[in-house]
Amino acid sequence: MDNYRTVVSCFPDAPPDILTLPKLITIERLSFAYPDKTKAIDNITLALPRGSSIGIVGANGAGKSTLVNHLNGYYLPQEGSISIGGIMIKKKSLDQIHKMVGLVFQNPDDQLFTARLYDDIAFGLENLDMTPSSIHNLVEKTLRELNLWELRDKPPSHLSQGEKRFAAFATILVMKPEVIVMDEPTSDLDPKNRRKLINLINSLAATKITVSHDLDFIWDTCQRVCIMKKGHISADGSAKEILSNKELLEANNLELPLRLQ
Ligand SMILES: Nc1ncnc2c1ncn2[C@@H]1O[C@H](COP(=O)(O)OP(=O)(O)OP(=O)(O)O)[C@@H](O)[C@H]1O
Ligand SMILES: [Mg+2]
Repeated sequence: MDNYRTVVSCFPDAPPDILTLPKLITIERLSFAYPDKTKAIDNITLALPRGSSIGIVGANGAGKSTLVNHLNGYYLPQEGSISIGGIMIKKKSLDQIHKMVGLVFQNPDDQLFTARLYDDIAFGLENLDMTPSSIHNLVEKTLRELNLWELRDKPPSHLSQGEKRFAAFATILVMKPEVIVMDEPTSDLDPKNRRKLINLINSLAATKITVSHDLDFIWDTCQRVCIMKKGHISADGSAKEILSNKELLEANNLELPLRLQ
């Protein structure tokens, strides 16, 4: 399976126009190595249509976080290119990219940095042309939606892990980005909050890219799935076909979603 991309099907569960929709995100021949020479991304080419919901799965160390951390310019391409809405990701275009793409990091501590939860959620809005009362209304609405309003005065470092996870999501949601990238969004969530997140994600019209080891969550929220292995895409196709293919999953050190076991 290495260096070979399996295209499983023509997305039978997706809207019929998914393959012909204009591509919002285009990744071309992207490669990336860390300073210690670990090659984390190895020649990835991928095009994602506007409004689609894509799951990125793969074993530990496959390169998922490194890939998605490129999508808002946290890492810049070393080789190859990424364009979003026709804008190439480069140092100079980062302000535009940050307006379009919200990235929820794998570790919520990387996202929350003020001394008060409320301020973390309001932070991004303060650079926009908004009145203080409309900022307040939006922050309150977002915090209430995620059951965090009562916690608004707490320092984020004093939140529980699951609360931090939702708080990190809130910092992105409040900005209403066109593209939402989530890295392990269900880690630490209890079953009820996990279900709540599924419903919330499915209600968002944004283009969504989700990295997760929770393949049931990917089943519930994504139309399409890419499997990563050793820095490249080893399979790409309809979520239900990829996630029910035991042999393919096992070849990539993954297991069937729990609902299929
Ligand atoms: N800062 C770093 N310096 C050097 N190597 C790194 C660094 N961060 C990640 N790597 C390496 O890059 C590879 C890909 O890591 P990455 O975090 O993207 O994997 P992942 O698929 O997100 O894994 P996980 O499922 O465990 O989150 C791994 O081999 C990892 O050891
Ligand atoms: Mg990761």
